[in-house]
Amino acid sequence: MITITDLHKEYIDGESHVRALRGVSLDIGKGEFLSIAGPSGSGKTTLLNLIGCIDTADSGSIILDGDEVTSRSKKELVNIRREKIGFVFQDFNLIPVLTAYENVSLVLALLGLSDREVKKRTMELLKVVGLEGMEHRRPAKLSGGQQQRVAVARALIKEPLIVLADEPTANLDSATGESILKLMKEMNNTRGTTFIFSTHDQMVMDYADRLCRLHDGLVESDEVRSA
Ligand SMILES: Nc1ncnc2c1ncn2[C@@H]1O[C@H](COP(=O)(O)OP(=O)(O)O)[C@@H](O)[C@H]1O
Ligand SMILES: [Mg+2]
Repeated sequence: MITITDLHKEYIDGESHVRALRGVSLDIGKGEFLSIAGPSGSGKTTLLNLIGCIDTADSGSIILDGDEVTSRSKKELVNIRREKIGFVFQDFNLIPVLTAYENVSLVLALLGLSDREVKKRTMELLKVVGLEGMEHRRPAKLSGGQQQRVAVARALIKEPLIVLADEPTANLDSATGESILKLMKEMNNTRGTTFIFSTHDQMVMDYADRLCRLHDGLVESDEVRSA
């Protein structure tokens, strides 16, 4: 479903050139639960940003669900992103003035669904992620783990093909991080959503069905850990 071929990305910052990706190729199937692992600076965020159509590659190709995205315009990329991809970030990235309910439902409201449908889907999903009764709290009134549950719900509400999670547990204690991984795995099992999550934490890697290690912008190893 995602075919990445010989992807290169260099950042030019004044005099310095950083080769963040130096020829990454990967084939990712529908419904995979894949971890992109590697030390800080290995290129994880760069790779997720390219898959997520947040940034563009210098060369190489990414085919997302049959769409070659590497040659698309910025505007087209926004549409692909909206339709197909959900994001979860390390620092949750919720909108502070909105409640849990509003953070999750916002994207549905933008898609033009009826109020009734928006409410039904949002309340159901908030319940599934374990936030029943907390719908009207703002992020500041939720724990880190609860905020990340809101973020997972927000990523899933539009039923995307792929959820990209960039170090989703990095700002959580290990027990809370584990509960977020279990939630993502459950969503992967029940909805068939493809999850790609980056980490440098061994506990997180242990949850992956497939572990792809990056080092200095190259794939160092790629192993399937369960069928
Ligand atoms: N916007 C940027 N400008 C310059 N260099 C960058 C930028 N983003 C990332 N880099 C560099 O690219 C390399 C890969 O970064 P990144 O993809 O963020 O790795 P990771 O997420 O694995 O820590 C690092 O050396 C980093 O310093
Ligand atoms: Mg990163």
